[in-house]
Amino acid sequence: MKRLEGKTALITGAARGIGLAFARAYVAEGARVAIGDIDIARARTAAADLGDAAIAVEMDVTDQDSIDAAVAETVRAFGQIDILINNAAIFTAAPIVEITRAEYQRVFDINVSGTLFTLQAVARHMIDNGHRGRIINMASQAGRRGEPLVAVYCASKAAIISLTQSAGLNLIKHGINVNAIAPGVVDGEHWDEVDTFFAKYENKAPGQKKREVGDAVPFGRMATADDLTGMAVFLASDGADYIVAQTYNVDGGNWLS
Ligand SMILES: NC(=O)c1ccc[n+]([C@@H]2O[C@H](COP(=O)([O-])OP(=O)(O)OC[C@H]3O[C@@H](n4cnc5c(N)ncnc54)[C@H](O)[C@@H]3O)[C@@H](O)[C@H]2O)c1
Repeated sequence: MKRLEGKTALITGAARGIGLAFARAYVAEGARVAIGDIDIARARTAAADLGDAAIAVEMDVTDQDSIDAAVAETVRAFGQIDILINNAAIFTAAPIVEITRAEYQRVFDINVSGTLFTLQAVARHMIDNGHRGRIINMASQAGRRGEPLVAVYCASKAAIISLTQSAGLNLIKHGINVNAIAPGVVDGEHWDEVDTFFAKYENKAPGQKKREVGDAVPFGRMATADDLTGMAVFLASDGADYIVAQTYNVDGGNWLS
């Protein structure tokens, strides 16, 4: 028995990386998935690879009209949305004295406002249609504590943990479970970009920071995106009915809480 048979999901930022691994895992478990991304060309390629169970939906999570249109398009295609994964986010790094207001605003618009207002749009759809639902937000170990060069991204992910608690407590009366996943270090294009920030600010050779963070994980290596799919499937499945407002670390032992 597939665990998400008959379910429908909208996953933001799913054209690549972790979101794409979630889309694949959900389709393998019987769900139909809307791959929402600002990079629509890549989202279309990803959806085509997944066959009839997937569609690509263009969305910019910083733009309310775009969020509303993506939700409407997904509902038109699938009838309703049972599961939302708020996965779209960007990384940034800089010493405190070099942070610009514009970069702060860009990161908070995508990572925090994008998550809150996509969550709100999908929660309204679920409540208006009187059906239960699941919302999974992507937090990070970066949200568990600050880092000297990563103030803005860490703060944005701490905000996700807090929003998950508030939304989880507010929406469970409607049968909507809101929870979050806090990954550690996940290999892929995102971490290639992270590595270039540390090469610049810590004078490291390209690839050096990645090796260091991988070696430091108690499990013994960086995660792959597929290491996270078990939790994403579980939180959307019937077995997670009683789980509310939690953030789960899936990080190879990096953070204990
Ligand atoms: N990779 C890691 O080590 C790691 C660790 C902890 C948490 N996370 C979190 O997991 C999630 C996925 O990370 P990833 O490594 O797959 O990232 P990624 O950078 O590979 O993918 C992010 C996706 O979001 C899309 N996107 C960016 N801006 C957007 C916007 N305005 N509207 C819609 N889509 C937009 C991008 O086009 C891209 O497809 C993120 O929330 C990230 O913060 C990642």
